[in-house]
Amino acid sequence: MAEKHATNIVKMKKMKTDGVPLSMLTAYDYPSARLAEEAGIDLILVGDSLGNVVLGYDTTLPVTIDDMVYHTRSVVRGAPDTFIVTDMPFMTYHGSVDETLRGVRRLMQEGRAQAVKMEGGLEICDTVSAVVKAGVPVLGHIGLTPQSVNMIGGYRIQGKDPEDAQRLIKEAKALEAAGAFGIVLELVTEEVAEAITKALSIPTIGIGAGRYCDGQVLVFHDILRYASPYRDKRFVKTYADVGSVIREGISTYVKEVKERSFPSEDHIFKADEHVLESLYGAAEKGAK
Ligand code: KIV
Repeated sequence: MAEKHATNIVKMKKMKTDGVPLSMLTAYDYPSARLAEEAGIDLILVGDSLGNVVLGYDTTLPVTIDDMVYHTRSVVRGAPDTFIVTDMPFMTYHGSVDETLRGVRRLMQEGRAQAVKMEGGLEICDTVSAVVKAGVPVLGHIGLTPQSVNMIGGYRIQGKDPEDAQRLIKEAKALEAAGAFGIVLELVTEEVAEAITKALSIPTIGIGAGRYCDGQVLVFHDILRYASPYRDKRFVKTYADVGSVIREGISTYVKEVKERSFPSEDHIFKADEHVLESLYGAAEKGAK
């Protein structure tokens, strides 16, 4: 059995110093969280990617605090001994500090997460700082920030020109100064992600950001080919094809129901004799 909360923000920083990579995976419910914890993951992210891979939206924008609280709670039940970070959804941390803290409070008290993640750079540093001052660990997220997909103009690689690379480094340093305990780098060129990683004392966790981040994060449904719309992206590696296993299992079930080979003798419950008598009478019972 793993040590309770085997990872925490102090240990994560030490892992960076010691050169020990951090493994992070998303989970959205009890079974995915339970399997991730049993497999020894360091950190679970209840990503607002649940909008895409669980709720079937085409962006993360419709995801609400209620959705995040509901899913975070079930993840915590499935992985009680793992450090759990949950996403602040679209537009829940861009208003007043009070409003942001109300959302954070719900994710921590009702959802029972250990930390929150927020997308954005310089524009959210004051907010990050206020949340950290309230005693809540914050994971930053820069590069491709899916909540701003309409401003970015699509899901494209970040840091491709010198200005953009400098902007990302500046944002990462500002988030560290604001108190973030780590930063997710999404869809960033490998060289820029490496430069950011070297410039910070807090860990970077990459997704599509190359080999030199301090850790890696991927989406549960992508790496397991579990009906994910994004499983064929270049930065995703398939570690198991559970989608095919599930599809084959269900189609065999459908076939067996149609041909009446399920349920078989092995799956039924026999009535006691006196019940048979009450149904068919003593004389006819023998015929049954
Ligand atoms: O929502 C999510 O799953 C994420 C990861 C892609 C980092 O933010």
